[in-house]
Amino acid sequence: MANLSQMVESFEADYRLGDTEMDETHRAFLVLCQQTEIAKGEAFAQLFERLFQHTREHFAAEEARMAATAFSSLQEHRADHQRILGEMDRFTQRVKTGRSSMARAWLSDTLSRWFDLHARTMDSALAAHLKANT
Ligand SMILES: [Fe+2]
Repeated sequence: MANLSQMVESFEADYRLGDTEMDETHRAFLVLCQQTEIAKGEAFAQLFERLFQHTREHFAAEEARMAATAFSSLQEHRADHQRILGEMDRFTQRVKTGRSSMARAWLSDTLSRWFDLHARTMDSALAAHLKANT
């Protein structure tokens, strides 16, 4: 499994979906993940918080487009987003109290693996649906 910097480097080949808005958001998400991963101390806490905000907006934007185009897998896709936001919320709280090590491990392992699968399956299906319905 590729690490975050490899995922940024291979974005065009591995994650580009052909939907400009999704592609720009996903690239920014991966770059922010990578920047957060290597940050130390207070910079890590600030970037983790920014990543949480960016992810909430990223998911809300996708869900708005699903709703606007009556995407049949909206509930399932939203549930996958909600699960990740719940975990990210808990880690954000930990980071705020100075406990960053588990959040860093979650970012490098769980979140990067989650994005790899989510982008290749659910987001890929959404991009195809948007292409056919907008
Ligand atoms: Fe998504």
